[in-house]
Amino acid sequence: MKIWAIANQKGGVGKTTSVVSLGGLLAQQGKRVLVMDLDPHGSLTSYFKLDPDNIEQSVFDLFMHQGKVPDGLPEQLITATSCQGMDIMPASTALATLERRMVGVDGMGLIISKTLAMLWEQYDYVLLDNSPSLGVLMINALAASQQLVVPVQTEFLAIKGLERMMHTLEMVIRSQKSNLRHLILPTMFDRRTQASTQSLRTIKKTWGDNVWKYAIPVDTKFRDASMAGVVPSELDPTTHGVRAYAKLLQTLNDLTSSQA
Ligand SMILES: Nc1ncnc2c1ncn2[C@@H]1O[C@H](COP(=O)(O)OP(=O)(O)OP(=O)(O)O)[C@@H](O)[C@H]1O
Ligand SMILES: [Mg+2]
Repeated sequence: MKIWAIANQKGGVGKTTSVVSLGGLLAQQGKRVLVMDLDPHGSLTSYFKLDPDNIEQSVFDLFMHQGKVPDGLPEQLITATSCQGMDIMPASTALATLERRMVGVDGMGLIISKTLAMLWEQYDYVLLDNSPSLGVLMINALAASQQLVVPVQTEFLAIKGLERMMHTLEMVIRSQKSNLRHLILPTMFDRRTQASTQSLRTIKKTWGDNVWKYAIPVDTKFRDASMAGVVPSELDPTTHGVRAYAKLLQTLNDLTSSQA
């Protein structure tokens, strides 16, 4: 099982889009894929026409058992998506109360790790979508995953946000004593604008080898796909945005090739 987390504390940078794009491509290759919505706003959940305000069972339930995950619970929380081969563990808006509830409860940072250990034989890939804030959910995601992808919009303001994210990441990695690898993913790149080309240059200069050598272009098909509730590669497998995600998938597979 390969577990990848997609996270950045900055909002609207393409996290959820990366999860559905990569997940869709993997499912179309015949892989068994689980996507998990760790964002109380539930955008990934809404993407597949589920309602995070009215959902009965969600990721939230995993955290309600004093740091343990009861047998059979993870399976109960999983639903199929419109994309064959790809399942979702949805979010509910109740997740927003998690920080308050978790104060002083031991073992809360490893709930997602424990959950995925119980699903190990059932999926080839797990993609974790995160909210743009550091909290117990993101800590869980970082502890559970083998590879972190940090999408960053190719515009000036986004670079400041990336500095913050990288600082947070260092702190968390140090406290978890893990050697989580990360790949910075330039998104919404528009090579016709100076803002895009200059910020891409700055990102590469500042973060060097940790930056993906290509970028995900601006592509309106992503919004069309989300409106239709289908993964982008199902809407249009040849659009340049999907082709860029296919290339990214190859990079991520290479980076995590030793982990089956
Ligand atoms: N490469 C792209 N080209 C054009 N539009 C994009 C691209 N990537 C994402 N979008 C659009 O930008 C918006 C924000 O993207 P997305 O929801 O993936 O970001 P996010 O980081 O998950 O946001 P949040 O922090 O709110 O969870 C969406 O409407 C999405 O369709
Ligand atoms: Mg999102």
